[in-house]
Amino acid sequence: MTRIRPLWRTVLAPAAALCTGCAAISPDAPPFPHAVVAADHIIASRAGAEMLRKGGNAVDAAVATSFALSVTRPYSCGIGGGGFMVIHFNDDPVHGTRSIALNYRETAPAAIGPDYFVNADDPSASTLGGRAVGVPGNVAGLLYALEHFGTLDRQTVLAPAIRAAAYGFEADENYVSTARSVAARFDEHPEFKRRFAYVWTAFLHSGEIRVGDLVRLPEQAAALRLIAEHGREAFYDGAIADAIVRAVHADGGSMTHDDLRAYRIRQTQPLTFRFASWRFLAMPPPSSGGVAMAQTLGLFTRHLAATRGRPSSSAMFVHALTEALKHAFADRAEWLGDPDFVDVPIHQLLDRASLDAMASSFDPARTHEPGAYGSRAPPPDDRGTSHYCVVDAHGNAVAATETINLSFGSRLPVPEFGFCLNNQLDDFTALPGVPNAFGLTQSDRNLPAPGKRPLSSMSPTIVLDADGRVVIVAGAAGGPTIITSTIEIILEVLLSDSTAAEAMNASRFHHQWAPDVLYMEPEWFDVRDANGVLVVDRLSAMGHRVQRRDSIAAANLIRRSARGWDAAGDPRKGGVPAGY
Ligand code: DON
Repeated sequence: MTRIRPLWRTVLAPAAALCTGCAAISPDAPPFPHAVVAADHIIASRAGAEMLRKGGNAVDAAVATSFALSVTRPYSCGIGGGGFMVIHFNDDPVHGTRSIALNYRETAPAAIGPDYFVNADDPSASTLGGRAVGVPGNVAGLLYALEHFGTLDRQTVLAPAIRAAAYGFEADENYVSTARSVAARFDEHPEFKRRFAYVWTAFLHSGEIRVGDLVRLPEQAAALRLIAEHGREAFYDGAIADAIVRAVHADGGSMTHDDLRAYRIRQTQPLTFRFASWRFLAMPPPSSGGVAMAQTLGLFTRHLAATRGRPSSSAMFVHALTEALKHAFADRAEWLGDPDFVDVPIHQLLDRASLDAMASSFDPARTHEPGAYGSRAPPPDDRGTSHYCVVDAHGNAVAATETINLSFGSRLPVPEFGFCLNNQLDDFTALPGVPNAFGLTQSDRNLPAPGKRPLSSMSPTIVLDADGRVVIVAGAAGGPTIITSTIEIILEVLLSDSTAAEAMNASRFHHQWAPDVLYMEPEWFDVRDANGVLVVDRLSAMGHRVQRRDSIAAANLIRRSARGWDAAGDPRKGGVPAGY
């Protein structure tokens, strides 16, 4: 695959290593004429596609995909976690033309106040074990989506996930590399092997897992059967609830049956904004994704106003976008939180005059001083979170991102039912002034409180064209790099007319304002501009602190093409689309 590199990006050479075991995907995959699902695992994509073939709509497919991801990507997402879903119905026979945002993010249990982690006197309390666990929202969110916007029954949509859990699935490269790196932590802390025994044996195969090994999760199959039969009650008020409370209490946490019973999802409107002639449907707070994307793209357009929105070089593309990201992440740190609890001044942040004022400080030749914020250790390359995209035969679309936060979440399993509980409480300002697992320092607006949802970077996004047709469904996993990579893959399609595979293969970069580091994937370090100067040297001369990062985010993407739906999983995680 030899390609001429467009001005502002670089495409991976064949078999170039993005990360261990990842190679560029073929840009020649034919589009799906009717309907497609792009998820992080082929079994999950096929689960959704099976619903689409049966005549189910995009929501039916999304729900089947998500339950199958719970089984096949148990370190990323699942019934122990939460998520966000953006749905767009396009002239649908039942729902007409309408957009919906579902917030099924985890909530803090009633015992968790602003000082909970400060008083815990254990810096790992917000990431490891029972105290880190938020009340899971995934099951409530998916069943709500199915009941209100789907067409198939619970048994049908859960069947593929139950099959995968009961009969097993083969561990792939992504599974094994994640399991091995987590097993290494267990070797460093041998007490984990007892504390999180089910994780050690069932998920990590006692540290011995190899590609092709069969992972069977009969206990999760039992949980999924109960959910299929009894619905939400099975999880929030039945045997599964009992097992969750037991596991959390035994490990020092304080979630109660009342916390589980009280869990409610929020149905709301997507945050919408325009970029050129396109309309974005994005996730509002407590996701920071929609606001940050709207700010970033609004500033990026202004930064490039002098060149009519087109960067003059690769370095200028990276610089203009990075300067926009730094503003957006600085505002994220200061202003964003759960709007049910704090005032989030969205309009002020996205107001034309504020964006004009912010953009006026743009210097095409230099980045600005980092001020009081010094560099910190780079955030970890973590394998939590999973994004999936669906388009059905009516052109309805679903973009959903779900997570248990870090790889295997809090690591705390619910052994009777074969899943891991999240550690989403680390996304709060758990220890004020101390960066969280993703290097994000956040404000008092994001302090924990009973029933509150932690701020998130998950950015499920649908883009409509000027005629209101779905043209892109996108999103990613990867903490704050979710926002950047979702913007980058969308810009690849909108500005470069890239195929889904090309957009996915393109090397990424990321800046989150603090730490003051511009992370770039390896291939960037070989890209030269028209004068033969390395792009990274140009960026360094502008004052950017450029640092190599092996792999940034794991996305999924569907794009409208002349011949149907062009879809791609991310070579960084092994996702493969399925459809017809
Ligand atoms: O909601 C968030 O922003 C984080 N809990 C997402 C975590 C994540 O993407 C893990 N990554 N690889």
